Amino acid sequence: MNPMTEWLWHNGEIIPMDQARISPEDRGFQFADGVYEVIRFYRGKPFTLAQHLARLEKSAGAIQIKLPLALAALAGEIGKLIALSKLQDGMVYLQLTRGAAPRNHIYAADLKPTLLFHTRPLPPMPIPGEGEGARLLTVADERWKNCWIKSIALLPNILAKNAAVAAGFDEAAFIDNGMVTEGSSTNIFAVIGGKLVTHPVGSKVLPGITRLVLLEIAPALGIAVDEREFNEEEAQRADEMFITSTTRELTWVARWNDRYIGQGRCGNVTRRLHQAYQDRVRKEIAA
Ligand code: PDD
Repeated sequence: MNPMTEWLWHNGEIIPMDQARISPEDRGFQFADGVYEVIRFYRGKPFTLAQHLARLEKSAGAIQIKLPLALAALAGEIGKLIALSKLQDGMVYLQLTRGAAPRNHIYAADLKPTLLFHTRPLPPMPIPGEGEGARLLTVADERWKNCWIKSIALLPNILAKNAAVAAGFDEAAFIDNGMVTEGSSTNIFAVIGGKLVTHPVGSKVLPGITRLVLLEIAPALGIAVDEREFNEEEAQRADEMFITSTTRELTWVARWNDRYIGQGRCGNVTRRLHQAYQDRVRKEIAA
């Protein structure tokens, strides 16, 4: 077998990615009727897997899709695929859709869900302060009000991210009613008056797993956390800012629209949190 083969776990079978067959009437394809997860692994071991699977179960439950296998069994299968990939550092993309059926908005309760996942290598992320910080562009948040569900329906996110990149920025910062919600594929944190401020999760913000880990870490470093709404003006005047996700970990932000954040330099709170995050990764992977 070609060592470059990319493997896909598809409804219980592991096959080369290029041999996968998905029905054109899969509801994921026709209606974006499904949910997903992105899980990071380091040195061949998944990080915060239990938290990702718990979120998957919640997302699936919210749209009445039953997971075709128990979480413990799924964790085992994910481990198998990572081992087969022979990758050290990478991500697992996992997608669960309601399954295939003749196109109809109404779904039958007994559809067989489509569950698939595959791995991808990921390079190590730069240390905050090294290289250039991210630039955020304001984009109106026109998403639905169930952002806590990790839905595969990402059109508003995709349009926002592409608008940002086309304008020379790195990430879109969603603004809803003047308030900063989250990025197109990241959670947003600001350091304001020494406190770590981030929008509460729920209808407008995904409960990011990286966010969750940081909210655990911050108090241990003596950094107070303030989960509250904050507006765009406050964000632009923040002392420090960073965005988080499974794939980018913690990325410092240097600019928002035409304004520098913290004079365009990476701040100390960001650096300390990043260091503690790396320590947490090392500890969990070594365990
Ligand atoms: N996105 N907010 C949104 C809208 C996201 O899509 C993501 C992650 C996050 C961060 O969540 P976490 O820390 O659990 O990765 C916040 C993934 C990485 C993606 O779509 O590729």
